[in-house]
Amino acid sequence: MTDEPDLKSAYALNTPDDAKRLYAAWAETYDSDFGEAQGYLSPREVVRVFAQAGGQGPVLDVGAGTGLVGEGLAAAGVGPIDALDLSDEMLTVARSKGVYRETIAADVTQPLSIGPYRGIISAGTFTMGHVGPEGIPPLLEIAEVGCLFVISVNAKHFESAGFEALFAGLDTEIHEFSFEDVRIYSDKADLSHRYDTARLVQFRKA
Ligand SMILES: C[S@@+](CC[C@H](N)C(=O)[O-])C[C@H]1O[C@@H](n2cnc3c(N)ncnc32)[C@H](O)[C@@H]1O
Repeated sequence: MTDEPDLKSAYALNTPDDAKRLYAAWAETYDSDFGEAQGYLSPREVVRVFAQAGGQGPVLDVGAGTGLVGEGLAAAGVGPIDALDLSDEMLTVARSKGVYRETIAADVTQPLSIGPYRGIISAGTFTMGHVGPEGIPPLLEIAEVGCLFVISVNAKHFESAGFEALFAGLDTEIHEFSFEDVRIYSDKADLSHRYDTARLVQFRKA
């Protein structure tokens, strides 16, 4: 991989250490050079679905990055919100937004000793080069019964990484499963990713 902070290098990440290096370099410019410039829609989409479903705090924002989801949740009156991310540099920017109760540096694919949460939300983290289906079981462990999950999964990644099989196998652990397919970027995005879609997965812990 290259350390050039852009979408191409993000999708090509291989290890958590690669991700830490890339996002350390990207943290300061992520909101303007990526979020704004590419018309990045996923944070507001997950917040919309979470709020429509009556989601409540305490909420964990998984792969919170610079805090775009937390800003949306706070504007929707949802809280308290904790941010979890691998990257200290991204969490430093997230903290500066003033919307998180706590920022937690951790790898979501490993056992977590936080929570319990009534809501778990994530945008842009369950995608190529980042987190696969193995990120879901540790989150179920820190969720209260009835906890609302709203997670955007890149549609290509959903197919290729085995999310369908994961959710099919969780039928006794989750309920009210549904999804909606949405665009990740607006028409401002580079042509190579302009029409990429995410599957917004919604369910509750049984
Ligand atoms: C594309 S950014 C999305 C950030 C934010 N949710 C948003 O929508 O703007 C992906 C984030 O996932 C984090 N990440 C990648 N792998 C992770 C892991 N295994 N555990 C926790 N965070 C991870 C990265 O550090 C990065 O901040």
